[in-house]
Order: sequence, then C-alpha cells, then structure tokens
Amino acid sequence: MSQFQIVGGKKLEGEIEVKGAKNAALKVVAASFLAKYPFKVSNFPFIEDTCRMIEMAESVGVKTKKNKNENKLVIEAKNINQSRFSKELTNKLRSSILFAGPMLAREKEVEIAHPGGCVIGKRPIDLFIEGYKKFGVIVRERDSYFIMKVKRLRGARIFFPRVSVTATEAMMMTAVLADGVTELRNAAMEPEISMLANFLNSCGARISGAGTPNITIRGVKEISGGELELIPDRIEAGTFIILGALAGKEVRVKKMNPLHIEALLVMLKKAGVRFRVFSDSVTVVGSTKRLRAVNIQTHEYPGFATDLQPPFTLLMTQAKGICLIHDPIFDGRLMFTDILNSMGANIIMNDPHRVTVSGPSKLFGRRIVSPDLRAGITLVLAGLIAKGMTVIDNIYQIDRGYEKIEERLQKLGAEIIRT
Ligand code: EPU
Repeated sequence: MSQFQIVGGKKLEGEIEVKGAKNAALKVVAASFLAKYPFKVSNFPFIEDTCRMIEMAESVGVKTKKNKNENKLVIEAKNINQSRFSKELTNKLRSSILFAGPMLAREKEVEIAHPGGCVIGKRPIDLFIEGYKKFGVIVRERDSYFIMKVKRLRGARIFFPRVSVTATEAMMMTAVLADGVTELRNAAMEPEISMLANFLNSCGARISGAGTPNITIRGVKEISGGELELIPDRIEAGTFIILGALAGKEVRVKKMNPLHIEALLVMLKKAGVRFRVFSDSVTVVGSTKRLRAVNIQTHEYPGFATDLQPPFTLLMTQAKGICLIHDPIFDGRLMFTDILNSMGANIIMNDPHRVTVSGPSKLFGRRIVSPDLRAGITLVLAGLIAKGMTVIDNIYQIDRGYEKIEERLQKLGAEIIRT
C-alpha cells in the first residue's frame, strides 16, 4: 500500500495546471454507448475512477485507445457483446449506474449491481430507478443486481424531488435515443451537465435547457461520434487556489475556468485571501495573517460546492475567529474534521451536517489515513502547512481524483513523496 510522506512548512511558488474534470470524464465514457462511432476525447484525466469506468466499458466489448501522456481517449462502442456488468467492477464506483440508460438504449436490457455505499454517507439510487421506470423500463431486483428490460424507451416527464447531478445526467442520456420528448424538471445545473449536452448535440442529439433546472430532450434515432475537449476540473482548481492561500508565496493556478467557482471566489475574498482573476487562471498570494473566519453553506451549483467544503474548512482553521461550516448535501462529509483536530485544529461537530471552526490553530504533522477523495486531498494540504512530518495512508482515495498529484505539488516546491 502506498503512502504520502509530507514535510510541512515549505513556501510554495510557481504555476500549477488543472486537469480535465473527473466528473465530466466519467459521464462521457457512459455516453459513448449511445453511438456506434468513436468519441475522441482530449484533456481526459487518467485517474483511478476514470480508469475503472473505462474498464467497465471494455468489459462489455467497447474498444478504447488511451494516450495517457497526452490525456487523450478514443472510445468506440461499435459492438457491445453483453449487457451484464460484473458486480466487482460496479461496486467500485457510484458512477457505474450511469451505464444503465445508454445500455438500455442500445441493447434494451441491462444487468447491473447496486453501486454500493460510500464513506461520505448514504448514496441512494432511488431517483435513478424511479426515472428509468418512467421511460417504460421494467426493473427487477435479484441477488443485489438490478435487472432492467424495455421494449422501447419512451420519452418521459420527470420531476426530481431533490437536485441530483448524476441522476440528471443519467436521465438526459437515457432520453437521447428514446421515442418522443423527455422533460426534466428541478434538474441539476453543473457545468459538466452543459458540457455533456453540448457535446451530445454536436453528435446529433437534441437537448435544450442544460445548465438550467428545465431540460428538454427530443429523442433521435441515432447519434454520430464526435470530438470533445473536457472542461477543466473546477474542484481541482478551487483546491489549488486554497492551497495557494494557505502555503503559497505566489501560486498561479492555470488552465481553469474562474466562472465555474464564483461562489468559492466570493467567500475567499470575504475571508481576506488576496488573488487576481484572469480569463483562464487565478493567481493567489498566500498569507494566513490576514485571514478572517467566514461561514459557508454548501449548495448545488452555482452555489458553494460540497466538494470544496473540506479544503475550505481547513483554510478556516488558519483564519482568525469562529465560523460555521454547514454541508447539508451528504451525511458524512464533515467526519474528516476529527483528523484535523488530531493535527491540532479546533473544530466542534454540532451535528453531522454542521461544524464550528475556531482559529487560528497551529497544525502538527502525524500519521493519518485518507478517508475519501476530497477529505484526502485536504489532508495533503494540511500536511503541507503542518509542523513536522505527516504520513498519509490509503492514498488510493486521493489517486481516485487527482492525477500524479505529488509530482505537480513538487513543482511548486512542496516536500511530498510517494513511498
Ligand atoms: N440522492 C438521493 N437519491 C438518488 C441520488 C441522489 O437521495 O437517487 C441524494 C444524495 O444522497 C445527496 C443528494 O441527492 O444527498 C445530492 O447528490 P447527487 O446525486 O447530486 O450527487 P452525485 O451525483 O452522486 C456528484 C459528484 C460528487 C459531488 C456531488 C454533489 C459525480 C460522479 N459525483 O455526485 O462528487 O459531491 O455530485 O455535487 O459527478 C467527488 O467528486 O468527490 C464527488 C463525490
């Protein structure tokens, strides 16, 4: 098992480039089943999660060409030779449920295991199952498998009782080849959804309204292949900006879209972080002396992203004053604050969705375990500002979302090695 060893306290300086968005890449792999022609994807991050998603596609006959050095993927679902996904693969990541709709569109049936739970809390899939049924799909459950069959997918009107990113994408994809019109209401508005819709439209799909709560999809008979450059990962961008604020002399975060993290930038300004915004980069001047505590509440896009809550909570441990961090989206997203406390932070858990942070606190290096992806990268940041050495185990959880993170941080002057 690999681990990171980090010696904290180095001032970071230079440029760091943001990779393609993980949560866009995963969906494009599933969407490839809608076409019998290749999707040529650039800026594709080859990280644990996207590689597992590609493995799932390959396991049913889809062909791929990977150029990891140039971050390019060609994926072609000309032939699909079975409609059952192995439980072992499905259980590895939640996004596996996204294959169901496109597989139903192509093969009229799919067998897929429950995608499993997750350390950030319960991750139900009721919205997906109810949605597929609205398209006319018969869903049965046997031995923790969902067995779904349909004669013809037919357009549906779906109101989501709660906003869900992946359920929105799943229903949007399912509707592309369905008969008639599908209307999605109270849809999620994340930029990854608009990107996917624009790309599918360039291949012949007819989707309008993506990026708003009302999406309409007019079914078409088939779609072609196409070329797509993935949008930059806004969570990675935001995390690096926070790193710059915590540990940087001057750090330029480049190849990003500042418009995708406006909520974060507004809160950073309130907190006293000094940065300059350009069209595709943000330069941040680090200094924790002027940091002030500010309350945040996470929200669906365009609100403050729950995936940026862990690094922002860390930032608040270095700010003067007391603030409330409220993350209502998942149940377990604040559990990692215990680990920050073990490093010297002063965070009180009010309830599973709320913590109070009092700062500033000096952090000290120690041996810790990465609980999940976003908490994991936050512990790397904590290690970089802590006194002494931090050792992080279970870094698979960090590799799931961040490509060669230690090499990129080393270029900024960080003392971090993988052992
Ligand atoms: N929900 C249900 N039923 C469902 C689906 C979702 O109750 O059938 C609930 C969830 O339990 C949660 C809320 O709806 O309380 C919102 O969850 P959502 O479905 O939007 O989350 P997701 O689509 O599973 C995506 C990202 C997450 C990110 C969230 C919120 C992907 C692959 N994942 O998850 O990213 O935190 O949206 O923005 O797109 C990460 O990258 O580390 C990550 C966890």
